[in-house]
Amino acid sequence: MRNKIILLAIIPLAIIIFISSCGEENIKYQRYYSDGSQLYKIHCQNCHMSNGEGLGQLIPPLTDSIFLRKNREKLVCYVNYGLNDSIKINGIDYQGQMPAEKHLAAIDLAKTLTFITNSFGNNQGIYDVIEVQKNLNNCK
Ligand code: HEC
Repeated sequence: MRNKIILLAIIPLAIIIFISSCGEENIKYQRYYSDGSQLYKIHCQNCHMSNGEGLGQLIPPLTDSIFLRKNREKLVCYVNYGLNDSIKINGIDYQGQMPAEKHLAAIDLAKTLTFITNSFGNNQGIYDVIEVQKNLNNCK
């Protein structure tokens, strides 16, 4: 009987804690996303365009959600160290060069990546600072 009462008290409490922590995560995501959209305008939009579609054969689009998902761990390396490779996106070979954005802090990298991985048809959820730091350590 006593155990039951304790259980009945604990369950609603656990639910409240669970819901409020979801709310906090959601607020964090919204903040990252909206700051990220500003950072995108400043640092990326000139090349990748406001709709993320890139520019012809010169600049690859950010709309290929399969490429962005497959390369999620490398995205932060591309931005931080630049990219000078031959990559194929939507059937087109891109040979261009993306300059490094070394002056962006980890938090700004996280916000920019949260923005691009949740825009232009992408839907990957938050890309937080811990993930940025972990992936940066694994860039070749
Ligand atoms: C000066 C133009 C330029 C700027 C500014 C630029 N990029 Fe790029 N980006 C490129 C080019 C060119 C490539 C392809 C490089 C290659 O072929 O090796 C590329 C590739 C990429 C890729 C991988 C391919 C793809 O389309 O998914 C991602 C992701 C990316 N850029 C994100 C960003 C983000 C985020 C920013 C802003 C922080 C940014 N870029 C700023 C030119 C640019």
